[in-house]
Amino acid sequence: GAAVEVDVSTIAPGEKRVVEWRGKPVWVMRRTEAQLATLEKDEAQLADPNSERTAFPTPEYAKNRTRSIKPEILVAIGICTHLGCSPGDKFAPGPQPSLPDDWQGGFLCACHGSTFDLAGRVFQNKPAPDNLEIPPHYYVSDNMLLIG
Ligand code: FES
Repeated sequence: GAAVEVDVSTIAPGEKRVVEWRGKPVWVMRRTEAQLATLEKDEAQLADPNSERTAFPTPEYAKNRTRSIKPEILVAIGICTHLGCSPGDKFAPGPQPSLPDDWQGGFLCACHGSTFDLAGRVFQNKPAPDNLEIPPHYYVSDNMLLIG
C-alpha cells in the first residue's frame, strides 16, 4: 500500500495521533520529557528492553530505549502482539485499576492484560510475546514523517 505522510509538528506534546497504514492503526505519539524519563525507570521490569526479539523484528533505527528515530516521536503499530487487540492509553502514572501501583504510564491491552511502556515495550510475565511492532518509517524533512 501507499506510504502515509504525517507532519509531526502538528502533534502536541503528550498527544497520540492514530493514522491508518495498510489497514492497521499506527500510533504517532509525541512524548513529553517527563514521559521519556519513565522509559529508564521501567526497564528492569520489561521482557525485552533492547528490542532483540524477532517475532515482530524492530528496525535497527528503533533498537534504542525510545524505540524511535527522534527520541520524542514514537511510531508504533497499535495492535497487541498477543492476539491482536488494540491496547488502550494509560498515560497517567500512579495507581490505576489493573495496573501496578508504580505504573509509570504506557498502554494496557484489556483483552488479556498485557502492559507496554511508552516505547511499546512489553512488561515481563505478560501474554504478549513481543514489544509492539515498529513499522518501517523515516523522515523526509525535519517534521515530515513517512510510514511505509
Ligand atoms: Fe493483548 Fe491478549 S490480545 S493481551
